[in-house]
Amino acid sequence: MADLESLIGTHNPICPAGMGGIAGPDLVAALSEAGALGHLGGIRLPATDLQSWLREVKSKTDKPFAVNLVPPGGGPDGFDAQLEVAIAEKPKAISLYWGDFETTIPKIKAAGITTMVQIGSVAGAKQALEQGADILIAQGIEAGGHVISKTGLLSLLPEVLKLAGSVPVLAAGGLSSAEKIKTVMGMGAAGAWVGTSFIAAEESNAHPIYRQRLIEAGPDDTHHGHFYSYGWPIGTPYRVIKPKIKALRNWKAAGARPGNTDRFAQTVQLYAGQGVGDIQKSEPAQDILRHLATGL
Ligand SMILES: Cc1cc2nc3c(=O)[nH]c(=O)nc-3n(C[C@H](O)[C@H](O)[C@H](O)COP(=O)(O)O)c2cc1C
Repeated sequence: MADLESLIGTHNPICPAGMGGIAGPDLVAALSEAGALGHLGGIRLPATDLQSWLREVKSKTDKPFAVNLVPPGGGPDGFDAQLEVAIAEKPKAISLYWGDFETTIPKIKAAGITTMVQIGSVAGAKQALEQGADILIAQGIEAGGHVISKTGLLSLLPEVLKLAGSVPVLAAGGLSSAEKIKTVMGMGAAGAWVGTSFIAAEESNAHPIYRQRLIEAGPDDTHHGHFYSYGWPIGTPYRVIKPKIKALRNWKAAGARPGNTDRFAQTVQLYAGQGVGDIQKSEPAQDILRHLATGL
């Protein structure tokens, strides 16, 4: 198998997800400083803002970090402008989600940057491998946020591993405890790609009420829907926790940020994966990383 450590620049196999809006420079730098590959969420950022955020990360850490881009959320300048800026800033890796990356992957690889592609099916894995992905992220339907997968991780992961051969595969979806991560790595995953757990980090760009709602939610509380989510085409599937306070906004899905009102954070459906019941408190990112690695 190709060596995950050399591809991501760290021996830590727990890879934080590049969550749009939530994984900003503070969270990325904290996670990179703690020894993981901090991963900036680039979705919908205008290219100039993306550049500023990437430079802010570099001013906060000299450790490897990565950036995530999503074509449906390319932002006002579009995906190509974002890609150009991202490549020029030379992160260790760029991850891609929700698209056909035939022309994108060669551009990233030509710059000597590791290319990670998140897929949710065997067909998606096949396509990403043919197009030259260095690392696959196999997302199960347990995942929080927008969900490209229709299949549970237990069924998808072995099939993707068979296809991937020497290409490392990270498992994703509901992996919010050391026990769950150990299980997927025992199945052959090279590491885990984790989103929801890190929303609760003190350094995330989440609204405090978003963190609180994650802490209060239990393992039965996520909902897989596909109605309306901010910035995405109607009908795009997502996993959320539902609000307890009744309001017209209840049917919308989002990730609440500090700039949103308390009322917004209380009444919208909030992105979260099936591991949300494992989240007990908001704490520094490095402590979450340690819980995920050791259970302690
Ligand atoms: C709040 C939130 C935002 C997300 N934003 C993105 C994104 O911008 N790009 C992306 O590739 N994946 C995004 N995801 C999905 C993650 O990449 C990953 O599949 C998911 O977090 C894994 O499941 P988990 O949340 O149960 O750990 C997001 C997930 C969450 C929870």
